[in-house]
Amino acid sequence: MALLTINGGRVLNGEIECQGSKNSALPILAACFLVRGKCEIHNCPKLSDIEGTINILKSLGCDVVFEQNTIVVDSRNASGYEIPEELMHEMRSSIIFLGAILGRSGRAVISTPGGCDIGLRPIDLHLSAIKKFGVEINEEHGILDCKCNEGLKGTAVTLSFPSVGATENIILAAATAEGTTTILNAAREPEVTDLADFLNACGAKIHCSSGIINIEGVKSLHGASHNVIPDRIVCATYLCATAVTRGEMLLKSVIPAHLGGVFPILDEMGCDLKVGSREIRITAPARLKKADKISTQPYPGFPTDLQAIFTTLACIADGTTVIVENIFECRFKHVPELLKMGAHIKTEGRVAVVEGIPCLSGANVISTDLRGSCALVLAGLCAKGTTVVGKINHLDRGYENFDETLTSLGASIVRTEEAHEKEDEKQTGANNSEQR
Ligand code: EPZ
Repeated sequence: MALLTINGGRVLNGEIECQGSKNSALPILAACFLVRGKCEIHNCPKLSDIEGTINILKSLGCDVVFEQNTIVVDSRNASGYEIPEELMHEMRSSIIFLGAILGRSGRAVISTPGGCDIGLRPIDLHLSAIKKFGVEINEEHGILDCKCNEGLKGTAVTLSFPSVGATENIILAAATAEGTTTILNAAREPEVTDLADFLNACGAKIHCSSGIINIEGVKSLHGASHNVIPDRIVCATYLCATAVTRGEMLLKSVIPAHLGGVFPILDEMGCDLKVGSREIRITAPARLKKADKISTQPYPGFPTDLQAIFTTLACIADGTTVIVENIFECRFKHVPELLKMGAHIKTEGRVAVVEGIPCLSGANVISTDLRGSCALVLAGLCAKGTTVVGKINHLDRGYENFDETLTSLGASIVRTEEAHEKEDEKQTGANNSEQR
């Protein structure tokens, strides 16, 4: 584990390219196991969650090579169906292997997944949908033993909530199931479409349209090459980093259409955006304005993954912003840390009321989860004085070379390793819950 020391007040300026999407790459890598072929996945970010997924693929018997943002997975000789508990616990997305393993071998033994500590994250929607394919699931001591002796049968699933992970698991189970599967109220996130595009390149027959997904099961899939889409959350993060430091930036290799739910809020807060087909230029105002209300929603609404980051923007905006978190029940763990930096925030259940102040002040803070860490780094970038952000291993799950990229734009950030972090924890007396 490491910590970041940030000297605030530097204006960010420049030009960068956006990394590939973590949340696309993860299910696509799981899909490589289903494919039973050799797949080349390009534009994969180098992140700890990607490493965790590669370790799962290897444990299942795949040959995996990761070089220069391309991962080659050869699953032809893989025969595993069991994921070791410690690998499952590393991240939430490990649950996506359920559909892929069952689709391939009709038997999967996994345990309940880990992930960021952002409240209860049940897998009931995944399990009830998987059972509809004719799979029997026995759960004992946190281990799920899933079997389908007769082969998976296509089915109709109506999701009570458009869960991203459950939609992806159903797609994976359905791709080679017998017959047709329909998902109603499916997640519409670009990452879901990217998974479908990859599987279609491998010979699947998946059609996604406005929350309805039809999958005609095929007998087998074949290897293919695929470019992972740019990471819309990382892209928005850099726009926000520019916004809090009153900078100007050109962000390249992006798909602006994926940020449709975010642009209106940046616009309301006074940022000038020039949007091209694959790039976005942002010019921040001298002081951000409040946004009346930011309310997280499934795609194409405002993403929950940007809620913490926009809380930092609201902290220094002129006026009061109301933030409503509708997706996760406990995603305000960054708030107590922002309070240490002088922020004026009151939370009640899923609502945060943020009264903007002219400037935050540097403090020792501790990362709480992936996007929460990012909110704290952005707060450090615009704060007066020095901010030390501890436990930034969370950050490394989702952002490739984050501190180096910010430094290239003009930020003053130094990464140091664990020994210093322990000292820092003593100083702050911080007692945040440890997360995987
Ligand atoms: C994905 O998580 C992302 N993770 C999350 O990104 C993102 O925050 C989330 O979608 C929402 O956009 C990956 O893609 C790897 P959900 P996922 O199933 O699939 C409830 C990040 O920072 N639910 O759409 O786990 C659930 O508790 C991460 O990159 C059930 O109740 O999200 C939550 O309240 C964090 N039962 C809501 O649905 C279920 O069986 C949304 O979850 C499944 C979900």
